[in-house]
Amino acid sequence: MDSQSLQTLEQGLLGEIVAAASLEDLEKVRISALGKKGRVSELMQQLGKMEPDARKAFGQAVNTVKAKVAGALDERKAELQALALEARLQTERADISLPVRPGPAAEGRIHPVAQVMDELAEIFADMGFSIAEGPDIETDDYNFTKLNIPAEHPARQDQDTFYLQPDANGDRLVLRTHTSPVQIRTMLKQKPPIRIIAPGRVYRGDSDQTHTPMFHQIEALVIDEATHMGHLKWTIEEMCRAFFETDVKMRLRSSFFPFTEPSAEIDIAADGIGKPGEWLEVGGCGMVHPNVLRNCGIDPEKYQGFAFGMGIDRMAMLKYGIPDLREFFNADLRWLKHYGFSVLDVPGLAGGLSS
Ligand code: PHE
Repeated sequence: MDSQSLQTLEQGLLGEIVAAASLEDLEKVRISALGKKGRVSELMQQLGKMEPDARKAFGQAVNTVKAKVAGALDERKAELQALALEARLQTERADISLPVRPGPAAEGRIHPVAQVMDELAEIFADMGFSIAEGPDIETDDYNFTKLNIPAEHPARQDQDTFYLQPDANGDRLVLRTHTSPVQIRTMLKQKPPIRIIAPGRVYRGDSDQTHTPMFHQIEALVIDEATHMGHLKWTIEEMCRAFFETDVKMRLRSSFFPFTEPSAEIDIAADGIGKPGEWLEVGGCGMVHPNVLRNCGIDPEKYQGFAFGMGIDRMAMLKYGIPDLREFFNADLRWLKHYGFSVLDVPGLAGGLSS
């Protein structure tokens, strides 16, 4: 190629560059000139076949063209980028004087279980209880043995327990079947007087309209020197009154639990919640069994106390008229929109728990 046509090529390319109206067009020009098979690149490949003298002169000439084209490309690219930015700024202009859009806080909902836990925590905090916690995966010892449920005791079969694989010694961990092991954990590390509640998840192999394999309980434990059944009954009654925000009738029905003596089932009259004439079982309670105190190093001659455990999901269904327990855990947004609570409505006794 002679210098005349080299110059023509250069003029042609520079013209195309200036004419490119968008970054995409410019990129096409770049590829057609400097790309692997571009017009300038191909000239470089011819160098190999030339005589040394001619090669030197031609090489320099091609390099000059290449540098000019590359410079022009950069310049046009900067221009086009500035134009594109200017266009975006024109079209995407934000009007900061517009009202604020509803944000995620207005969209999100508190699950009824979380709401009820917060309400109960509020009620018990007001009575001087603190909150205790334990793990969902429990030892057999805390879930059963220390609660006066020895191995082979039939009560172990009552609560279709989920067991984990046994370790080398044959010891099996369990998914806790109730929140009562938190009683043990608390008494092992805290001296009386004790006043705690323990809300949390529990697990039993059971599933129908009112049972799910995972559900929620709240446990209460009070240990002191002169605690009696009257305190137990008053506490539960007071809690129900505050929770249901109306005067609910409650009764204790004699029952059996290995870890309490005497023991009772807690029933509440459903009149106020749309089921006149019915009693609904919401939990169990009793005076802590002396064996349980002894198992935790507490002297039953000096101390005694009461405990109760109630189903949180059950209480949510009753208070908020939710018919099917299984839907609590289906992660259905429409359900949550219907039954859920506003993030900004934190339950408090002063303003009415659920208003
Ligand atoms: N842990 C018992 C249950 O889940 C309830 C309970 C708790 C009963 C505390 C008495 C005292 O069935």
